[in-house]
Amino acid sequence: MSSHHDTVRDQFSRQAIPFSTAPSMRDDKALQLLIDAAATNAADTVLDVACGPGLVACAFAKVARQVTGIDLTPAMIDRAQALANERQLGNVGFQVGDVLPLPYPDTTFSLVVSRFAFHHFPNPAAVLAEMRRVCRPGGRVAVADLMASPDPKKAAAFHRMEMLRDPSHARALTLEELRTLFARAGLRPPTETFWRMEVDVEGLLERSFPAAGNLEVIRQMYVDSVADDALGLATRRENGRVRITYANVILCA
Ligand SMILES: C[S@@+](CC[C@H](N)C(=O)[O-])C[C@H]1O[C@@H](n2cnc3c(N)ncnc32)[C@H](O)[C@@H]1O
Repeated sequence: MSSHHDTVRDQFSRQAIPFSTAPSMRDDKALQLLIDAAATNAADTVLDVACGPGLVACAFAKVARQVTGIDLTPAMIDRAQALANERQLGNVGFQVGDVLPLPYPDTTFSLVVSRFAFHHFPNPAAVLAEMRRVCRPGGRVAVADLMASPDPKKAAAFHRMEMLRDPSHARALTLEELRTLFARAGLRPPTETFWRMEVDVEGLLERSFPAAGNLEVIRQMYVDSVADDALGLATRRENGRVRITYANVILCA
């Protein structure tokens, strides 16, 4: 197993509970936006790639015929299974596994989705190729993720901070890079749905597990960026709290 996989499992075992309860991750409107952007229907068989605690898979299970979620981190799959049980969903199943390669035959699913995971993949192009492979002809492939700033300086500063905050990050892609991934995977030009996610920095830091000593450095990077938006996150103070905005996109082909 690669050391990146170890880092992912380590980070997301710790993050499993705080991530699954974070308001920004549970937000029903954001989940509905993804369901709509992917034109989800009652006949769909859905794969949720790097499903984490099953929030996406369980939301799709209310609309689609059958949903499968796969994730590398057993603690996340435990949360996902618990959520499905709590909601009494009989049409969703989860498995622990790597997304590269996806352990499913060609053309298994009618809809293959992935949310907030591409920035954790060292080889996102290979994962998208796998998503396409397991999607049946005429199906849809949808990727939702945050976008790195189109300003290379801000994107680089954000990357430096994110690598400290969550070492399981690989790299957030710009919108252009995400579009290029779709083109290179041989997918049609995707529809693009944009949305913003407002996040309280202290809440985010509570569910982050950086190396010892880095927490203060990270907090200071956020605070400093109030003055110059160095991270490209529109950092600001609101009622004494430091807040940021992630610019997100859903690409669906
Ligand atoms: C930020 S979470 C997103 C969870 C979920 N998609 C959501 O939006 O609620 C990223 C997830 O990617 C998973 N992950 C990262 N690399 C993976 C890989 N190579 N194979 C499977 N899962 C992976 C992690 O375990 C983690 O649960």
